[in-house]
Amino acid sequence: MDTNTATARNTANRLVEVEEILDRRGHSSTELIGVLQDIQERWHYLPEDALNYVATTLGMSVNTVFGVATFYAQFSLEPKGKYLVRICDGTACHVKGSQSIYDAIKKKLDLRDGRVTTADGLFTLETVACVGACGIAPVMVINDQVHSQLTPEAAEIIIDTLMARENDEAAPAEPSNEVES
Ligand code: FES
Repeated sequence: MDTNTATARNTANRLVEVEEILDRRGHSSTELIGVLQDIQERWHYLPEDALNYVATTLGMSVNTVFGVATFYAQFSLEPKGKYLVRICDGTACHVKGSQSIYDAIKKKLDLRDGRVTTADGLFTLETVACVGACGIAPVMVINDQVHSQLTPEAAEIIIDTLMARENDEAAPAEPSNEVES
């Protein structure tokens, strides 16, 4: 399958899912923010083809939909990694060393020149304001999972574990030595 065909197929599959989201939200323009939240939850960002489809289907201008998508900080128009790593940099976490955790993870993921997502698309690193878990600071949140009372070393071990899991999943299955009877 050539690249164009694969892209067209991905878009078609995505739009089927966007249509399901619109169905659940009643195909209503008053539900636009909820629709965008659902799309972002599904793909970790707002794909352009999805926004165009939402605008057309809800009878809204593309500019309006993109305007809402860019107004709210919770939305991203850039693809994010499979693992969204957020280092809390609220006051309590900052005082307890969140910056050194951030620096360690940034180095481990080899994020340079302003990049926040790894080249393989697996990890995105961000800071976030207080996530409401100050009693167990410093905190790192990966997708929905909260990791507490971290040191840079402990945070790196968590990232190592995720990398190892991904490597295992990507590795071809070992040929079996068992002889069928
Ligand atoms: S400052 Fe990090 S959880 Fe509150």
